[in-house]
Amino acid sequence: MPVVAVIGAQWGDEGKGKVVDMLAQQARMVVRFSGGDNAGHSVVNPHGEFKLHLIPSGIFNAGVACIISNGVVINPAVLIGEIDSLNERGVDTGHLFISDRAHLIMPYHLLLDGLEEEARGGRAIGTTRKGVGPAFTDKTARLGIRAGDLLDEKAFRERLGAVLEYKNIILTKVYNAKPLSLEEVFSQYRQYGERLAPHIRETTIMVDGALGRGELVILEGAQGALLDPDFGTYPYTTSSSPLAAGACLGAGLGPTRLDRALGVYKAYCTRVGGGPMPTELNDATGELIRERAGEYGTTTGRARRCGWFDAVAARFSSRINGLTGAVVTRLDILDILPSLKVCVGYELDGKAIDFPSSITALARCKPVYEELPGWLTDTTGVRDFNKLPAEARGYVNRLEELIGCPVNLVCVGPERGAVIEKTPIF
Ligand code: IMP
Repeated sequence: MPVVAVIGAQWGDEGKGKVVDMLAQQARMVVRFSGGDNAGHSVVNPHGEFKLHLIPSGIFNAGVACIISNGVVINPAVLIGEIDSLNERGVDTGHLFISDRAHLIMPYHLLLDGLEEEARGGRAIGTTRKGVGPAFTDKTARLGIRAGDLLDEKAFRERLGAVLEYKNIILTKVYNAKPLSLEEVFSQYRQYGERLAPHIRETTIMVDGALGRGELVILEGAQGALLDPDFGTYPYTTSSSPLAAGACLGAGLGPTRLDRALGVYKAYCTRVGGGPMPTELNDATGELIRERAGEYGTTTGRARRCGWFDAVAARFSSRINGLTGAVVTRLDILDILPSLKVCVGYELDGKAIDFPSSITALARCKPVYEELPGWLTDTTGVRDFNKLPAEARGYVNRLEELIGCPVNLVCVGPERGAVIEKTPIF
């Protein structure tokens, strides 16, 4: 069985949680490979309705090993809260494993995420303020503290002492904030360490073992390709790579082992936070989509910006991920629109251009729209592609053509079963 990376192919919130929950029925391992608790994966299945921030969406299946891998930054308090809340609802987490190489979100990361955003003033990125950016900054700056450090109390105290001395200089001298107490942070994280120790281990060997046994392994992405720090709308991006290439690095897997890269696209576009979005609808249609779809952040509650499907961005995303297939989610949201627009090109100063690297150029791009007829029919009960209204099939077929890879699945509701197979993934 192959390794499948499930990748957000727009600006995040595409419905990756639902897709992973579905695929996990056939899998033996799910690995969350990037981001932190800035993510919010919604899952609706026979166990109930869940919003997962760190725990892989395969957790509902007892036989599926769920790994939070080296590419993720972990806020231990959030993770423990998530474990407790799942356990209270009868979901076992004994099959959850945490890479000893995963970096930790520390109290100063949370403080700095807020202080840095405030210092940016009108140019704020609109981060989730979960400390994710500052934690990845420290990883690169070699100032990070990792899950494995919690297992060695003496070494952890020494490491924390050295890092905190430096962080307190930044907090007090740059931001006029209060310093953090070594004793308090140490004793709090030691407790987290005791609680999480049974889950922490070397995990690449587990992934390799699953591959050796020929098991299906799902690599669960967070955020979306257009938030990638290299290829997204920099600097309005997140801080770790949500791409298929990032999946390999973030899970400790060589790129030659990846068999499928499945891009998840919403049938329209949303974005939360700052940065350009060429197809944004600041009108009644945008409002209608937001309210009908409940487009409010799972993590922050912020209203998401809504717009038409952007096929220029979608094709770019397919290219940089090397997508082998796509999933189109939330098609049913469009059931009530008499006609739909799809952005098929960008025009900048009268010239057609591809998805640009510069946000100032992207902000000036004029979307070129193609108009397609709506279907004005409830699709939520449809399970066979050929039974969709002809206009809905036409819409999905056109997206497929524009994205440039086969559409494998079409989702028509939040529940696990609300899905139509168009082309088999395997
Ligand atoms: P950060 O990842 O919290 O630093 O936020 C950076 C940017 O990524 C902001 O625009 C956030 O709104 C956005 N972002 C981060 N995580 C998600 C997500 O899971 N879904 C959608 N947008 C996200």
